[in-house]
Amino acid sequence: MPSLHICSLILCSISAVFSLPVGRDSVCGYKSCPATKPSMLNVHLVPHTHDDVGWLKTVDQYYYGDRNNIQHAGVQYILDSVVDQLQKDPARRFIYVEIAFFYRWWKQQDQNTRRIVTQLVNEGRLEFINGGWCMSDEATTHYSAVIDQMTLGLRFLNDTFGECGRPRVAWHIDPFGHAREHASIFAQMGYDGFFFGRLDYQDKARRMSTKEMEMVWRASESLKPPVADLFTGVLPNGYNPPAGFCWDQSCDDAPIRDDPDLEDYNVDVIVQNFLSTANSQAKYYKTNHIIMTMGSDFQYENANLWYKNMDKLIKYVNALQANGSKVNVIYSTPSCYLQELNLANLTWPLKTDDFFPYADDAHDFWTGYFTSRPALKLYERQSNSRLQTCNQLEVLGGPKSRSGPFGEGDSDTMKRAMGVAQHHDAVSGTEKQHVAYDYAKRLARGWAHCEVLIRNSLAVLSGSEAPRVMCENLNISVCPLTESSHKFSMNVYNPLARAVSWPVRLPVNGSQYSVTNANGKAVDSQVVPLSKSTQEVRRNRGYATGELVFQVEAPPLGYTTYVISLLRDEPPEDTTEHGAPPSIQNKFLKVTFDDNTGLLKSLTNLEIQQTIQLSQNFYWYNASAGNNYESSQPSGAYIFRPNSSTPVIVNKTAQIEVITISGVVQEVTQWFSPWVSQVVRLYEGRRELELEWTVGPVPIKDGLGKEVITRLDTDIQSSGYFYTDSNGREVLERRKDYRPTWDLKQSEPIAGNYYPINSRAYIKDDKRQLTVVTDRSQGVSSIYNGSLEIMLHRRLLHDDFRGVGEPLSEPGEFNDGLVVRGRLLLTLTPPDQAADTHRPLAQGMVLQPLLSFQDGTPSTNSKLEFSGLQAALPLAVHLLTLSQWDKDSILIRLEHQYEAKESKTYSQPVTVNLQKLFSAFKVLGASEMSLGANQWKEDMTRLSWNNEMNVKPVPVSDKDPSPWEVTLNPMEIRTFLLRVQQ
Ligand SMILES: *[C@@H]1O[C@H](CO)[C@@H](O)[C@H](O)[C@H]1NC(C)=O
Ligand SMILES: *[C@@H]1O[C@H](CO)[C@@H](O)[C@H](O)[C@H]1NC(C)=O
Ligand SMILES: [Zn+2]
Repeated sequence: MPSLHICSLILCSISAVFSLPVGRDSVCGYKSCPATKPSMLNVHLVPHTHDDVGWLKTVDQYYYGDRNNIQHAGVQYILDSVVDQLQKDPARRFIYVEIAFFYRWWKQQDQNTRRIVTQLVNEGRLEFINGGWCMSDEATTHYSAVIDQMTLGLRFLNDTFGECGRPRVAWHIDPFGHAREHASIFAQMGYDGFFFGRLDYQDKARRMSTKEMEMVWRASESLKPPVADLFTGVLPNGYNPPAGFCWDQSCDDAPIRDDPDLEDYNVDVIVQNFLSTANSQAKYYKTNHIIMTMGSDFQYENANLWYKNMDKLIKYVNALQANGSKVNVIYSTPSCYLQELNLANLTWPLKTDDFFPYADDAHDFWTGYFTSRPALKLYERQSNSRLQTCNQLEVLGGPKSRSGPFGEGDSDTMKRAMGVAQHHDAVSGTEKQHVAYDYAKRLARGWAHCEVLIRNSLAVLSGSEAPRVMCENLNISVCPLTESSHKFSMNVYNPLARAVSWPVRLPVNGSQYSVTNANGKAVDSQVVPLSKSTQEVRRNRGYATGELVFQVEAPPLGYTTYVISLLRDEPPEDTTEHGAPPSIQNKFLKVTFDDNTGLLKSLTNLEIQQTIQLSQNFYWYNASAGNNYESSQPSGAYIFRPNSSTPVIVNKTAQIEVITISGVVQEVTQWFSPWVSQVVRLYEGRRELELEWTVGPVPIKDGLGKEVITRLDTDIQSSGYFYTDSNGREVLERRKDYRPTWDLKQSEPIAGNYYPINSRAYIKDDKRQLTVVTDRSQGVSSIYNGSLEIMLHRRLLHDDFRGVGEPLSEPGEFNDGLVVRGRLLLTLTPPDQAADTHRPLAQGMVLQPLLSFQDGTPSTNSKLEFSGLQAALPLAVHLLTLSQWDKDSILIRLEHQYEAKESKTYSQPVTVNLQKLFSAFKVLGASEMSLGANQWKEDMTRLSWNNEMNVKPVPVSDKDPSPWEVTLNPMEIRTFLLRVQQ
């Protein structure tokens, strides 16, 4: 039998290849959809697997099926098995989603298997859905990294399968809440529709009763409809099969036993059960089509079980049509289901807000993961900045950047590591600890490849091949070269397309240095003693006694060089003053402190003489341990559930130390406890106040899990309203204890009011707006009038029963609890001028300059300054992408970074000339692409949908002034492939 079995498989594959030779007109996409019956209820069975790109196991462990003692899951076997089973019957369908896995598998297949798979794709039997590298998290990701990870997956699909590999449908069946910006991105990438599984239980109940499970999501307030309109459907059963119909090897439901001569014949029971399930599901949806997701986490490892039973289900259910049954079951895909909804030509409800926060029960708000694993969240965000720098320098340095004096470098390793890190159990912080380490390791390895590339590129651009080091731990003042060298140069590379000024702090051991810029001009600088807080975080990882502080100015998309020489080789004098200062101020801002408490007291914008009362402190919510009388839900990696709505104050007063450096910076250090401190910092010439917080190790000896927040209390009359960004782009209005589309019954007064931010939040009244720009994704709320609270860190003692199976208690490098340090930037402005400041501020936080150091004096013929642009771009325009595509072409994305109504000055169309952008290469041709760069813009057509607001959306037809001059409207991103000569 075994040999016969093998034989038949080979025959089967061969016949499959030969029966449809390559070159025959194949039919994929909507044309390959199964026939349906207009007079019946059509049930679309969608065979699928949900393969997490890391969660309980690492992505590679999942791929191979390693560590099955943790979770039985092996993606390679799933793909092997599905490809076998699809060949057995042309009616069978399968969708595949996560390209991080498919790419691994494809690389290992022989030519014959690749041909079979290509044919299955060309016939629409195997269909790619979503098609990003992973299924990204929506709460904690930044749009720049999301667009990149989608591009990576979609490019693999186009390169490998061409047009038949292009996904039509976005599919986020598992993410824990849905961001409006994600919907906008999907729309601009050309997707026809979007399906997801999780939404608030109250919202779902309401939508079911009003048949609003499917809708048009208008995902942008700035882009002209239907550019950011996306047809969106809520799946009936999460992403699982209906109860009783799970036929995976991991399930226990009864198989279909259809031989009447054997015992336990159950066809009639199963068919009746199915008919009643289908009919009751149909009550909540508008058309005579319904979808059933036949699969779940890592299912189909033995696909035969699923297909054999679904074959029978289809046969027996449809056989009843001869007796008058009106139910028709078919193998289908999400796009085939979507096509039927489109053909129904109905008018759909319109959705304009988002799907946060997500609760699956009254005390189960998934708002903890907005902050979970804050150090990984920052590392992921910094890695994005480094990847953009790496991509840019790969282009600017030319081919030698990949293979040059420092060896072989590449940006691909980092692209894939970032692709994996966007997964909904990666940057979200909801993975096991060993998997979190694996994500970080991948990013570190990616960066190591980029570092070589960057060294090569800077060698090409500067003409200096002297060794160059980059210091990873500047945030805790560790950098062996600057600590020991008597003379060194610092290269500052600025990835933004406009000039920036930026404060730097270098760990040093001398007390006086001279700093000169690329023109040989001296720059104000001063050495400040290393703070006690930094010494405590650093522990034994470095020896600097001071920090050399000065401001750098870097050209757009380029670098400049500073030369630093030691003048006095002795430890810095302690210039610290103890006790509360009444105030610190620069040209733009004044900050006062309370004499008695040492806390902030007020903030004044000196340019317009506008003041707010501003008090700030640190608190922690006592995390529920699950022994509460209302519910047994504890706080965990996903869920935030404080035991009490009143947080515990860390300390009512702060001890204060003051440092002033004339012409550079003023700092006030506040000590709240051995595990909470903060530096309040005002740099010369800057319009924002910096709060650098350090939290940890969070103590747990008292047996209490802690969710640490900082709260800013002001006299701004915010009346329950606050504002949060969506994936770092457009801003949404939030209102305490309120949801725009249903009557909220609030059951968690704190956790139920938390929302994710990726880059900023604000509160305002008629005259004043306080904006907070953050350095990573966090959870945010406004519980009191005039107040804004941000969750910074979490250390918990219980698992929250959502599968991760571990309490979130990060050990940190020294195993006594993770210490986290981060920054908040505050601006105070009139509301109508706020965006003028916070847009560039946030963009500068995301794309930070890269510092690299060379020992000694730079060689005389080296080039100390460089810009890859002919001129800085206008402030409204952000160069979102600059990346080598293939030998002769590069991919660029230009983004208008303002919303339509937020700035009098900048919310205007801007025109940019593509031929006059870059100085580093000549642009020979330009072709516009979809946002995902897997389709030419001119080929982009999307299904159109009627919605309740306007039955016929007008197609957008904005003309560019000329082929080279492209106009960007507010919030628009335009993607071009440039043919270039380097
Ligand atoms: C769709 O419906 C609209 C009115 O609701 C109608 O004008 C239009 O002709 C219909 N289109 C098709 C293809 O049936
Ligand atoms: C997709 O791939 C095909 C085949 O390699 C190629 O000709 C086409 O230009 C690609 N499309 C895009 C938008 O890159
Ligand atoms: Zn998942």
